Amino acid sequence: MNKRVAVLPGDGIGAEITIEAVELLETVGKQFGAEFEFNYGDIGGNAVDVHGTPLPDATVELCRASDAVLLGAVGGPKWDNEPRERRPETGLLGIRKALQVFANLRPIKVFPELSAASPLKPEVVDGVDFVIVRELTGGLYFGEPKERRNGPDGPEVVDTLRYSEKEIERILRVGFELAQKRGGRLTSVDKANVLESSRMWREIAQRLSSEYADVELSHLLVDNCAMQIVKSPGQFDVVVTENLFGDILSDESAVVTGSLGMLPSASLGANGVGLYEPVHGTAPDIAGKGLANPMATFLSTAMMLRHSFGMDEAADAVEQAVSDVITEGMRTADLAGPGESYLSTREISEQIKNNVKRREPIGSKNTVR
Ligand code: NAD
Ligand code: IPM
Ligand code: MN
Repeated sequence: MNKRVAVLPGDGIGAEITIEAVELLETVGKQFGAEFEFNYGDIGGNAVDVHGTPLPDATVELCRASDAVLLGAVGGPKWDNEPRERRPETGLLGIRKALQVFANLRPIKVFPELSAASPLKPEVVDGVDFVIVRELTGGLYFGEPKERRNGPDGPEVVDTLRYSEKEIERILRVGFELAQKRGGRLTSVDKANVLESSRMWREIAQRLSSEYADVELSHLLVDNCAMQIVKSPGQFDVVVTENLFGDILSDESAVVTGSLGMLPSASLGANGVGLYEPVHGTAPDIAGKGLANPMATFLSTAMMLRHSFGMDEAADAVEQAVSDVITEGMRTADLAGPGESYLSTREISEQIKNNVKRREPIGSKNTVR
């Protein structure tokens, strides 16, 4: 049966990298005997321009009728002064909420040959491999009221940080379960010295830890965590945290890997359709120049193959194909050192696709030798 993938390119470099990711998936399909069906939807700024809303109903319906969603990125200076309901980012938050993908997995894995691409010392970044589990459908991003209004001192503004116990428990369980499958260590990040929501978060983490005796739970305040990520990122296995903290800590963690263009993500719900997108945004400074690094999006498709389609071998093949171009010394502009040559988005994508094509599908029954 066809695997239906909704493709939402979005704005800026979003379109440039999703085109390549679709071609990569087509290559994977041929190589591993899978049929992907791609259907395109509008989201973000271009959807505002065409439909007057960043998230048309048709896009939500398309995603709901699909097995997985591949998203580029949304936003850009053109729409920065739009009211909230017409902001591109509102479309992104809307699709995350509509699909109920509350668990956002953001792996931070350093490719050995890229340790020189990080501004941190090689001995600090070598071997780093952790996952940030970011709560994605609650907290400050979604709490109501969220408004400008008149207060006793004139105009004032309010954003609301709201979490139900249920929302906190379910994301913490994702963290514990992932830690069980990995190195058995979970760092719960909060601001329990100030925020009531964080105090409840910490209590629930503590209570759940008795159910996961094989996981070593520790707590870290978010400001300290931000410092530890650049000081000694090798200490982390699984980090679980609320929406806004996870957003900030994941961009910071990108520095460890050498570039934001390397960080993939998977957003998952209890069941249902998964949403796969790079951690980075639309990069208006390099959009349209062929300079975007497509690897974060490629690694996101690997997560799709693994989490939505159970195609572990194909996922490994994509990750290996990315790893191989790096080992062979190929770089995109964001990863190249001063004076070092680099490939365009299209060129490096071709190289990665060729690596997948060359690969013998491991254990594939229909391989003709
Ligand atoms: P950004 O992530 O777009 O860019 C930050 C920096 O990283 C820029 O210098 C950019 O050139 C670089 N960069 C990002 N991705 C890259 C890639 N693949 N290859 C090479 N370099 C890359 O963040 P920003 O500039 O703060 O935001 C720009 C717009 O993107 C904003 O409108 C923001 O809201 C939006 N945004 C969207 C998403 C998303 O859709 N998931 C995520 C973050 C930001
Ligand atoms: C991300 C982005 C989004 C977020 C924005 C664009 C709404 O920064 O996916 O990390 O904050 O979640
Ligand atoms: Mn972000």
